[in-house]
Amino acid sequence: MPTETIDSDYAFDNAAAEAVPQLRALEAFLDPITMRRLAPPVLTPSARCWEVGAGGGSVARGMSWAVGADGRVLATDIDTSRLFASANLDVRRHDVRTEPPPGDAFDLIHARLVLLHLPERRHILRALAGALAPCGWLVVEEFDCTAPLRVLTAPNDDAAKLFGQVTDAMLGILQGHGADLAWAQDVHAEMTLAGLTDVDTVTHAESWAGGSSGASLYETNSRQLESKLLAAGFSAGQLDAFRKLLRDPAFAVMSYQFVSTRGQHLPA
Ligand SMILES: C[S@@+](CC[C@H](N)C(=O)[O-])C[C@H]1O[C@@H](n2cnc3c(N)ncnc32)[C@H](O)[C@@H]1O
Repeated sequence: MPTETIDSDYAFDNAAAEAVPQLRALEAFLDPITMRRLAPPVLTPSARCWEVGAGGGSVARGMSWAVGADGRVLATDIDTSRLFASANLDVRRHDVRTEPPPGDAFDLIHARLVLLHLPERRHILRALAGALAPCGWLVVEEFDCTAPLRVLTAPNDDAAKLFGQVTDAMLGILQGHGADLAWAQDVHAEMTLAGLTDVDTVTHAESWAGGSSGASLYETNSRQLESKLLAAGFSAGQLDAFRKLLRDPAFAVMSYQFVSTRGQHLPA
C-alpha cells in the first residue's frame, strides 16, 4: 500500500554502503539480458550513446567497449559516485526529471529501472525519443511489479508470509516516492505514441533461491529502506528473519518480470 507521505525523490541512495551490493546484484541479473537487447544493429561501432541513470556503470562500460575508439558514451545520473570516466566514456551529473537531454543526436539511449521511479516518466520518455539521431534506438527496461512475488519453496508458512509482507511494504515505500509499479506495461504504447517504429518488447523472469545474487537484492533493498520499514511497524527481529530467509537454500521465489522495450526513430 502507498505510504501516506508523498516524497517524489528517488528512494535509494547510490552513495550508501548497501548500494554497492544492490547495484552489483542488479547488474549480475540484468546485464546479460540487456546486452543481448543492445546487440547490433542497436549498438554498433562508432555509435554515440547515452546511458540514463547509469547507477554502477556496467552497461555504460559495455557500451564503451562496443562503440570503440570512434564512438562516445555519456553516462548520467543524479548521483555519479559509482561512475568512472574512461577514454570514450564521459560521466556527468544530470537530473533527467528537470534538465533537458544533454544532446539531440544519440544513436542509442538506454534507461534501466529509472523511469519506473520518476513521476514525470511519460514526459521523460518523449524527451528521450526526441534526443535520438535519425535511425537511433531507445531502449527502456523496467520491472513489472504488479503481480505478487510467487514464493516457490519456503521453510514454513510463516516465513513465506513474512516475505510477502516485507516485499509489499517495500513496494509501498517506493510508490510513496512516486514509483509506478505498472509502468513497465505502458512503455510499449508510450514509445509508439512518441513516434518510434519497430517497437518490440520481451520479458524475463526466473527463480531465485535463498543465497543467490538475485535473492540478495531483496536484502539490500531492505537495508536501504530499513528506517522506513521500521517506521511502517516492522520490528528489527522481523527484518533479521526476512534477511535470514533470503540466505536460506530452502527458500525460492520468482523474480519480478523484467520488461525490455525498444523502438527506433526512423525519419518520415
Ligand atoms: C535502480 S537504479 C538502476 C541503475 C542502473 N540503471 C542499472 O540498471 O543497473 C536507478 C538509478 O537511477 C538514478 N536516478 C534516480 N533518479 C534520477 C534522476 N532524476 N535523474 C537521473 N538519474 C536518476 C539513481 O541514482 C540510480 O542510479
